[in-house]
Amino acid sequence: MTAAAAATPMIRMSGVDKFFGPLHVLKNIDLEVPKGQVVVVLGPSGSGKSTLCRTINRLEPIDKGTIEVDGQPLPAEGRALARLRAEVGMVFQQFNLFAHKTIVENVMLAPVRVRGVAKDEARRTAMELLERVGIANQADKYPAQLSGGQQQRAAIARALAMRPKVMLFDEPTSALDPEMVQEVLDVMTTLAAEGMTMLVVTHEMGFARKAADRVIFMADGEVVEDTTPEEFFAAPKSARARDFLGKILTH
Ligand SMILES: Nc1ncnc2c1ncn2[C@@H]1O[C@H](COP(=O)(O)OP(=O)(O)OP(=O)(O)O)[C@@H](O)[C@H]1O
Ligand SMILES: [Mg+2]
Repeated sequence: MTAAAAATPMIRMSGVDKFFGPLHVLKNIDLEVPKGQVVVVLGPSGSGKSTLCRTINRLEPIDKGTIEVDGQPLPAEGRALARLRAEVGMVFQQFNLFAHKTIVENVMLAPVRVRGVAKDEARRTAMELLERVGIANQADKYPAQLSGGQQQRAAIARALAMRPKVMLFDEPTSALDPEMVQEVLDVMTTLAAEGMTMLVVTHEMGFARKAADRVIFMADGEVVEDTTPEEFFAAPKSARARDFLGKILTH
């Protein structure tokens, strides 16, 4: 990587506004995420965290401002958008695996269909990824035969199969039984340590403290705090953040 390429932020949002009808859900968002950084996004329900994630791969169009991924403005549609989506991996609360395909087929699908990778190569890569997330032995099962934690790890492998430049996670552990949360967080922590650029919406404060380089706190569609996890947890500046932490750390 040249110095200029390294200096280009992986994500750059400037002056981003988003409305749902009369509701102003993202308000003049300016956000740069440098390459390799892990950003945890916190905030109360309805503050715009999911919407923020979804605008970055254009699952939601924006009304104003610009978003660039690795220096490229988000394309509006067509082939260019498909390419961009491939570079931005996304993992949701619901795993969204294809029920009628096996785990390995789920992981192979996009590389074969979108990138035109040969099937045997796609299978090899898929197996390597399943190995990495610790479920290679589940490869030939169907999603419903796996635990929630295993399904979510499969969903992460599926996103990684497209070799994304950045991974977005929207509450990836919220739908899991408590005993399965850690195995998914462990995969994410490893990914972070390997240098993946990540934007993670989560209520897992342990992950935020341990794996995040930076914490963003949102309220009412605005970024209210943007700081290190140490600063944020020790001394949140805003009343909203103090209130939020008070609720989340005592429940
Ligand atoms: N498709 C939609 N149509 C209309 N309003 C929406 C839509 N999606 C989200 N909203 C509204 O936009 C606001 C932000 O929602 P968003 O889902 O981004 O919040 P969030 O911070 O992710 O909340 P949560 O913690 O509950 O997941 C909320 O007021 C929500 O009701
Ligand atoms: Mg949400």
